[in-house]
Amino acid sequence: MLTLSQVTKSFNGRTLFEEASLQLNRGDRIGLVGPNGAGKSTLLAVILGREQPDGGSVVWERGANYGYLPQESAAVGNETVLQLACAVSTEMAAALKVLAETSDDSEEHHAALEVFADNDGWQLEARAKQILKGLAFRETDFDRPARTLSGGWVMRAHLARLLVQQPDLLLLDEPTNHLDLESLGWFQEHLRTYRGAILVISHDREFLNRLVSSVVEISRGRLYRYRGNYEDYLGQKDARAEQQLAAYKNQQKEIQSLQAFADRFRAKASKASQAQSKLKQIDRMDKLEAPEGAERTVGQFRFPQPQRSGQRVVVLKDVDQAYGELVVYRGLQFQAERGQKTVLVGPNGAGKSTLLKLLAGVLQPVAGERELGHQVRAGYFAQHRHEMLRSDATVLEAAMDGAPHGVSEQTARSLCGAFLFRGDDVFKPVAVLSGGEKTRLGLVKMLLDPPNLLLMDEPTTHLDMASIDALIGALSQYEGTLLFISHDVHFIRSIASTVLHISAGKLVPYAGNYDYYLEKTKATNARAALVAGEGLSDKRGGVVAPVAKAANAAAAAAPEAVAGPGMKEVREARKRDSAERAARSKTLRDKQKALAAAEAEVMALEGKQAELTAALEGPEPYQNPSLALQLNRDLMRVQQALAVATATWDALAAEVGVLEVESEA
Ligand SMILES: Nc1ncnc2c1ncn2[C@@H]1O[C@H](COP(=O)(O)OP(=O)(O)OP(=O)(O)O)[C@@H](O)[C@H]1O
Ligand SMILES: [Mg+2]
Repeated sequence: MLTLSQVTKSFNGRTLFEEASLQLNRGDRIGLVGPNGAGKSTLLAVILGREQPDGGSVVWERGANYGYLPQESAAVGNETVLQLACAVSTEMAAALKVLAETSDDSEEHHAALEVFADNDGWQLEARAKQILKGLAFRETDFDRPARTLSGGWVMRAHLARLLVQQPDLLLLDEPTNHLDLESLGWFQEHLRTYRGAILVISHDREFLNRLVSSVVEISRGRLYRYRGNYEDYLGQKDARAEQQLAAYKNQQKEIQSLQAFADRFRAKASKASQAQSKLKQIDRMDKLEAPEGAERTVGQFRFPQPQRSGQRVVVLKDVDQAYGELVVYRGLQFQAERGQKTVLVGPNGAGKSTLLKLLAGVLQPVAGERELGHQVRAGYFAQHRHEMLRSDATVLEAAMDGAPHGVSEQTARSLCGAFLFRGDDVFKPVAVLSGGEKTRLGLVKMLLDPPNLLLMDEPTTHLDMASIDALIGALSQYEGTLLFISHDVHFIRSIASTVLHISAGKLVPYAGNYDYYLEKTKATNARAALVAGEGLSDKRGGVVAPVAKAANAAAAAAPEAVAGPGMKEVREARKRDSAERAARSKTLRDKQKALAAAEAEVMALEGKQAELTAALEGPEPYQNPSLALQLNRDLMRVQQALAVATATWDALAAEVGVLEVESEA
């Protein structure tokens, strides 16, 4: 479908790839990997024709269409979320614009409606709704102007558009950066059954493992293609590295012995010409490069430390927090002690990010108070950052910008070095930095003058493994107080000294590291335990707790408005009269009944599923293939029914949760 041959591209004398070739066929699922700054995004830009290669060619199969998700920002105009998701072609986008801006009875409107219908608009819209829901948009967001969404949600809306469009080739630049774990699960499944080809850049091993059937690595200007998923790639890469190292060592030995001969006999008249020919032999050799490794390891560096704060760092008292009518916290009490390094875990949407923002003071609570301790300075590091970096500044200038007077250029340079800006890299203009390089610069800026209360939301987004290790190095030296959210189990294990579990607005502290938390909760899967709810292994432990949880999940998983959340609605809701309340409590009772029924159905199906699984594992199916086939078919049917029933249960639980919260208000 797409052929790159002998493509060469360099920026300012630095070669990103040299004579790189790649053949992409229909149905390919390729993961594109490599360290930050290797040129992954640039390769996509070359494929898309946004960057011209210095040499070589890019040839598309005639008629093949593609969809592209950029790594960082994507544009939005006045369209609604649903319109954005349906704008699968320029024609469609134009028609949607007219439909939104003209009155129903105008001629233009009718013409646009025809275009819309000709393009299967109604079907598209239905599919778009489904996909938006999968990516955790609420129905109430569909008609909201896309530009009122925060950056991460705009990217999600664009991602939805690409999935609605279903192009022959999806080109995705780190799509998982914008997703939470639950939406990630949905997205992963969706891509697995996607019928077109996929070329995806990602640093997320699990995601790649589930999805790709080959891996293309950019390493030192070359593309290497490996068959299989990410694990397979690692295995083959190790083997290749060993082979390369052996070949390199052999060649070095040969060079040394030739050189030694030349050195010894150069002065001797009788052997001079032989010595000369040995030197020529060295010259003519196709020199192998030293295998990767040494140059990207993190050096020892003493990071600047913040001023010491009081023992009690920050306190939340009687805090209520809500988004619109959905309550996330009610009467919350919390306190952090100096020197703690706490990871926040719990189901997605339980309010982890909200808690960080409340602690950081970037979000004002509806009610209650936040008190900072003695000499505390809080710093907030968000997942989607819009750094105020002058784009014409160099890395070094940007790092020094706003740093206190005492900070020397030498310190700034060393810190840049610790975050893998090597040599001339510090003189690069900010405008050309890759996604990971920008995140690293943000970290350097913060760590040059660190606050003594540090609140970080997914700080490893965009970072490759070496950069994550650099951050681990910095944070393990950090003497201030740290609270953070992360999906990276390795990172959590290296940093966290305590764990705070958040679910249904309730906080449960664990006074030990992540493994202590796993042990206490008897969790078997380290990654799943990150988003486990109350009772951890038991998804539907009772009715009350999970219902409230679902309500909260719906609340905080919903797109953040750029304008503040609707506190006003909360207060207005409280003032509603009693007649309305009575009506609501009737609806609540009905929904609760439906919920109980849905729960019974889920349980029945789960029983059936267990029975069938047990039967399949028994001896009979081995001897009787047609029985095995039948059992498998039944199991699949039950599992499908179970998925539907669980979705119904989820939806009802969320509704009941909302109604309960409202009826309490
Ligand atoms: N227009 C440009 N001028 C000069 N250098 C550039 C330009 N665009 C990119 N670069 C440099 O080329 C390198 C590759 O950038 P690219 O964005 O392709 O990296 P990447 O592999 O996608 O990295 P990441 O994992 O951080 O996203 C980077 O070091 C970047 O600073
Ligand atoms: Mg990139």
